[in-house]
Amino acid sequence: MKQLIYVVLCSIMLTSLAQAKVFKAYNGDIDFNHSKHMGLFPCTECHEGPPRPFPGGLDKQKAHKLCIGCHTKEGAGPTRHCAQCHGNASKD
Ligand code: HEC
Ligand code: HEC
Ligand code: HEC
Repeated sequence: MKQLIYVVLCSIMLTSLAQAKVFKAYNGDIDFNHSKHMGLFPCTECHEGPPRPFPGGLDKQKAHKLCIGCHTKEGAGPTRHCAQCHGNASKD
């Protein structure tokens, strides 16, 4: 029982930590709607091992590969139009 409560609390903490994420970029900050993406895919689609900040963070190359890679594969989400990600922080 104690263990179950612990697991539930951890999940709530993880989920609230992971609500919103703004990536800083000189050509326009990117508002990543983490909770929306979480609802669409299992954590393991993007996180290897336990869900947490990416080791070493995301640079341009890694981010474009991850984000644009999946959008292209799924046929959904921004792919070619930079401004749908860069500078989208005030939209939505
Ligand atoms: C699906 C969303 C998405 C699209 C579309 C996208 N980017 Fe990005 N871009 C990102 C993310 C996320 C980062 C990582 C920001 C960071 O380093 O924290 C990034 C980083 C960058 C950086 C590095 C910025 C810095 O401050 O180091 C440049 C330059 C860049 N992108 C240019 C472009 C250009 C040009 C396009 C259009 C051809 C484009 N991006 C399209 C999401 C996107
Ligand atoms: C579509 C991809 C994707 C999915 C699916 C996803 N995440 Fe994430 N998650 C990210 C990205 C990108 C970051 C930011 C990584 C960074 O800045 O190092 C992140 C960061 C986090 C963080 C670190 C806190 C934060 O806000 O930076 C936690 C905790 C987290 N995710 C938990 C989860 C959990 C739990 C699930 C499944 C229910 C999940 N994630 C599903 C992409 C995803
Ligand atoms: C595993 C697949 C996957 C990954 C990885 C992913 N996305 Fe998405 N993204 C989607 C899908 C599918 C949609 C379309 C959702 C819809 O139309 O309801 C989407 C939509 C979006 C949108 C459109 C606005 C919105 O919130 O619906 C933005 C902006 C976006 N993604 C940014 C990003 C960024 C930035 C990253 C990387 C940090 C990323 N995505 C990684 C699948 C992914």
